[in-house]
Amino acid sequence: KRPAGAPDKSLARPVSKVGVVGAGLMASQLALLFARRLEVPVVLTDIDQARVDKGVGYVHEEIDKLLLKGRVNQDKANRLKALVSGSLDKAAAFGDADFVIEAVFEEMGVKQQVFAEVEAVVPETAILATNTSSLSVSEMASKLTHPERVVGFHFFNPVAVLPLLEIVRGERTDDASLATAFAVAKKLKKTAVLVKDAPAFVVNRILTRFMGEIQNVIDEGTPVATAEKAIEPLGLPMSPLVLLELVGPAIGLHVSETLNRAFPERFTVSANLAAVVKAGKRGFYVYDSGKPELDP
Ligand code: 3HC
Repeated sequence: KRPAGAPDKSLARPVSKVGVVGAGLMASQLALLFARRLEVPVVLTDIDQARVDKGVGYVHEEIDKLLLKGRVNQDKANRLKALVSGSLDKAAAFGDADFVIEAVFEEMGVKQQVFAEVEAVVPETAILATNTSSLSVSEMASKLTHPERVVGFHFFNPVAVLPLLEIVRGERTDDASLATAFAVAKKLKKTAVLVKDAPAFVVNRILTRFMGEIQNVIDEGTPVATAEKAIEPLGLPMSPLVLLELVGPAIGLHVSETLNRAFPERFTVSANLAAVVKAGKRGFYVYDSGKPELDP
């Protein structure tokens, strides 16, 4: 059955090469997923060779883990490793890519610049996708020659495990691009939902409201350990503050700032979270003994 709002799938264009801009945590998880499910070449790019090597290294390690767990055989592991490469040269890397997804720093100017650079080198029909957590897809596309090729393609951490994918239609996105996005999502075996191009879309809006209240409780003086304990009966798959570490405190802060700007009466920005990010900490826990312990 066609997902609500998805265009006719006959409009979808084939995808036989994928580009990933960025080689950080999210980007490298995406590279692995695309290679594994689409079985097409995937090229990661970033601003320096060390970052590119780290991203490709992560993908290779994850493939080794899949092999150890028996999820892929040796032959498939070798093929997957060969499909994923890294490059500093976007023109060479993306010149024949049909689908390029960006997962770079969450700042509109940076993302617009990335899309402009990518548009200059990709084929006319290539899709440009963004994994942004909260920024406007329409605004990101607005400076391009072909804004109709831009879609939001928002994954959740850990990418390999969580089934949901928010697909965002920007103001100018055309049916062929959206149909391609849905076809790719299906091959990735994700549950795609079409969401409006509104601040933080749907999931992060709900999650941020929820996480924001926990932060408020802590900001108002409740010890972190008490807040964590009190929430256990809700039966969440993991502690909200551990989830914050998984996502990255800087991303969490960025999303809450975006939402606070858009809906100041509904969203707050936690002083404690801002302090954690400013101090460059991983989160509310320290791992000095190898085990997570609350940062005193
Ligand atoms: N990366 C890759 N795989 C991971 C992983 C990670 N960081 N963490 C766990 N996994 C895999 C494990 O390898 C295991 O796979 P297997 O079945 O092949 O062995 C599987 O997930 C289950 O892991 P575990 O049995 O160790 O642990 P749990 O059953 O407790 O599940 C969890 C771990 C899936 C992380 C679960 O706790 C969970 O769902 N947590 C909530 C995650 C969530 O809400 N994410 C959304 C964040 S919001 C977001 O990302 C949006 C952004 O824009 C901010």
